[in-house]
Amino acid sequence: MALKITVIGTGYLGATHAAAMAELGFEVLGLDVVPEKIEMLGRGEVPMYEPGLTELLRRHVAGIEGSSGRLRFTTSYEEAGEFGDVHFICVNTPQKHGEYACDMSHVDAAFDALAPHLTRPALVVGKSTVPVGSAVRLAARLAALAPAGAEAELAWNPEFLREGFAVQDTLHPDRIVVGVASERAERLLREVYAKPVGAGSPFIVMDYPTAELVKTAANSFLATKISFINAMAEVCEAADGDVVKLAEAIGHDERIGRKFLRAGVGFGGGCLPKDIRAFMARAGELGADQALTFLREVDSINMRRRGHMVELTRDAVGGSFLGKRVAVLGATFKPDSDDVRDSPALNVAGQIHLQGGQVTVYDPKGMENARRVFPTLDYADSALEAARGADAVLHLTEWREFRELDPAALGAVVSERRILDGRNALDPELWREAGWTYRALGRPQA
Ligand code: UGA
Repeated sequence: MALKITVIGTGYLGATHAAAMAELGFEVLGLDVVPEKIEMLGRGEVPMYEPGLTELLRRHVAGIEGSSGRLRFTTSYEEAGEFGDVHFICVNTPQKHGEYACDMSHVDAAFDALAPHLTRPALVVGKSTVPVGSAVRLAARLAALAPAGAEAELAWNPEFLREGFAVQDTLHPDRIVVGVASERAERLLREVYAKPVGAGSPFIVMDYPTAELVKTAANSFLATKISFINAMAEVCEAADGDVVKLAEAIGHDERIGRKFLRAGVGFGGGCLPKDIRAFMARAGELGADQALTFLREVDSINMRRRGHMVELTRDAVGGSFLGKRVAVLGATFKPDSDDVRDSPALNVAGQIHLQGGQVTVYDPKGMENARRVFPTLDYADSALEAARGADAVLHLTEWREFRELDPAALGAVVSERRILDGRNALDPELWREAGWTYRALGRPQA
């Protein structure tokens, strides 16, 4: 009989995973403790902006006309326990308030709520990003709390999906990593992932701690790569070099690679910043803190970018923000997402506002979330409206819409044709030809 799958936690990761599992042909039950989320998903609506996810969901949610009916949602752990052979834990692991460490309370709560309902053999698969050592602890807890005892097993299967590409990354993962303690667990996961593995995704089997570490190592590497190029941007600025050309030139070396070498206001979001911090905290607990002290530098290079962007803007408008209008294009931490968690764009907007500038923000998808986090900023319904009367325009999230802006049209509404590109994504020639002063991080001032 085909495996039945539950997905516990229906955020970015869980909602996408649940829909993807249904797409692969399984019967799926998604669970969340927030009833409003479950109601929305049950209607085929996605609580966040993620390209392609609504369509995927609507193809499978039961009750929607023409759907496969393989995907349902619930808030009941009892129902999930009865239903599933394989249970994916996809709850979030934010940074703890006031410290670097990872907050495991949602993961612990999910295990504690699910385990008492596991009365028959089941595989619980952790997907959340957790400190190394968590899986060993959770496996023991599962065996102790589940009526099925040792028949309720654990596996760790980290997720590498990127926001904005979540559907593609989940259906066609570039690798599938599984940390297991038995052949049975491996066999079950091979069954779950038979289609993507058949289509060429490498399936890499390892122990629990290595699987947990693969995830944090991958995100640490990506963060390091971004901070490396941003450090080069700092040197370029001091030496009148051009970091964009530099990145292009070193990127041709296959060992270095071109991706993730885009200098700018740095990385944000719900993953990279908190993951490198949690990794440092965990290494400290393990007595291996020296190994990761470089991540402290990665973090501070990254945070410095935001301050630097504010300083560049202040200089550009004459040394003080008082009485100045600043348009901020972009609020989300990256394009094709409505996520504003630890967004460099909003951080910069907030700092300028606090220094007395009159800031107007526009973002194609992130307005609602941005308003919630920074209600004191002004918001406009379009880039043009945001730019009206501005002494400086800041490009801080590289949405396609901004790359395609017409410099002449924008030039007609601003007070000063002054643009600062915090993402190195606009074409300097185009803007300069239209009479703009174009300034970017890590590039010479023409
Ligand atoms: C990241 C990882 O890329 C995923 O593989 C991982 O699964 C995910 O975290 C996670 O742990 O769940 P994501 O947070 O969606 O994915 O965002 P990224 O695409 O990694 O971008 C992170 C930040 O780096 C963004 O603010 C982006 O603007 C910035 N960035 C990226 C740069 O500043 N320069 C670059 O060259 C690339």
